[in-house]
Amino acid sequence: MLGTRGGWRALRYCSSSLPREQRVPAARLRVREALGSREAADKVKVQGWVRSVRSQKEVLFLHINDGSSLESLQVVADPSLECRDLTFGSAVEVQGKLVKSPHKMQDVELQAEAIHVVGPCDTLSFPFKIKERHPLEYVRQFPHLRCRSNALGALLRIRSEATAAIHSFFQDNGYVHIHTPIITSNDCEGAGELFQIGTSQEAKESAEKKHFFNVPTFLTVSGQLHLEAMAGAFTRVFTFGPTFRAENSQSRRHLAEFYMVEAELSFTESLQDIMQVMEHLFKTATSTVFSKCPRDVELFHKYVAPAQKGRLEQMLKNKFVIISYNEAVEILKQASQTFNFKPEWGCDLQTEHEKYLVKHCGDVPVFVINYPYDLKPFYMRDNEDGPQHTVAAVDLLVPGIGELCGGSLREERLPFLESRLQRLGLTDAYQWYLDLRKFGSVPHGGFGMGFERYLQYILGVDNIKDVIPFPRFPHSCLL
Ligand code: 4AD
Ligand code: MG
Repeated sequence: MLGTRGGWRALRYCSSSLPREQRVPAARLRVREALGSREAADKVKVQGWVRSVRSQKEVLFLHINDGSSLESLQVVADPSLECRDLTFGSAVEVQGKLVKSPHKMQDVELQAEAIHVVGPCDTLSFPFKIKERHPLEYVRQFPHLRCRSNALGALLRIRSEATAAIHSFFQDNGYVHIHTPIITSNDCEGAGELFQIGTSQEAKESAEKKHFFNVPTFLTVSGQLHLEAMAGAFTRVFTFGPTFRAENSQSRRHLAEFYMVEAELSFTESLQDIMQVMEHLFKTATSTVFSKCPRDVELFHKYVAPAQKGRLEQMLKNKFVIISYNEAVEILKQASQTFNFKPEWGCDLQTEHEKYLVKHCGDVPVFVINYPYDLKPFYMRDNEDGPQHTVAAVDLLVPGIGELCGGSLREERLPFLESRLQRLGLTDAYQWYLDLRKFGSVPHGGFGMGFERYLQYILGVDNIKDVIPFPRFPHSCLL
């Protein structure tokens, strides 16, 4: 009877052949391996999810995807192997022969001998529909399922390759990778955008009770200060980890939890050196990603941001532009465009200003250097200039996004740092940081790059929520 468990199992096993235990074991292949195979193979097994089913009188066509590549593997089967559970979205295991395909679109195809539906899929309630290209806004509503769409599948493979490319860049250039703390008591940027943490017990108990760590602790806003300690021993270090900012912004380029790539270099006296590493990192990682997953990147450059490919190729060939903050303010003041925030020396550059500057410089990445002393955090090196007092800070602005990287030379001179911390009332909290200036202090500097903004830029993705594995929703506790 079909309604019984056994009946369903029989129905799911769409095979004309022997029971499982008597079959010769088949070589298990990922879809990517099968597609790249140059030789026919007699007994192979491919597992994945069905992306299309087309049943004709003489033949049944399936496309199977297992996340190893954007392309799916075509399976050709006898119509007798079709069964009710073999639908779009179902998980299957197909066994058969890998043969040269007579079709133009692919080199090989799998001639199925047995098709086993491992997990059926209710196509009526499954949010994605066969052959439809769902917009990013639509798939964002299904954070747990959207990785099965072409766009998010490609994005997450690119994200994985970009992570590896960034690690390789630093390892190849003599940097030591450091896992900086995620729970910390320091507020590196001093901007107060902190998530404070405590135990669930503390939340229930009275406020007088002691903190778990005895001091207030937060999720890290940057690993920089810890990296500086390490640069005092290893010369070149980097970290690449989760970073948290309590910015309640619904913008298209801010997240509460994001990944930051940070590097710190000792024996560095000029901002030029820092900018060179930023540019080199950016160009090397981008070229690597483009060559490692061309089809995934192409999907974005074809359907999401058609003009992005040419712009990026141009960008990879040219040197990034460098302007000073003073020049930036002059450019903005002379702009014919009216801004919501009037540009004035001493004021922070707003996104509208950053976007204008990038356009003004020819729609290329632009370094802005030497920002007002009062605008920037305590650790940035005093340029001792005037009357417009600046620090050796640098921001890298890129088209469509605005700020991608922020960095500086660090104040390595003990008296300068001491007086700045004293004015801010932070001397006690930063004794350990002052120690770094007492014991073998060297000129040094570094920078941080927002990983999600980097992905947004190279792929031309407008909303930052579309470059993370799991987007959150303000009114959902899901995931
Ligand atoms: O400019 P920021 O705040 O620099 C620092 O934290 C330095 N301590 C880094 C360093 O020198 N080691 O942040 C660096 C980058 C920004 O340029 C931006 O790309 C990204 O991190 N970023 C964010 N990305 C997504 N969502 C947010 N809320 C972000 N805040 C910063
Ligand atoms: Mg910044």
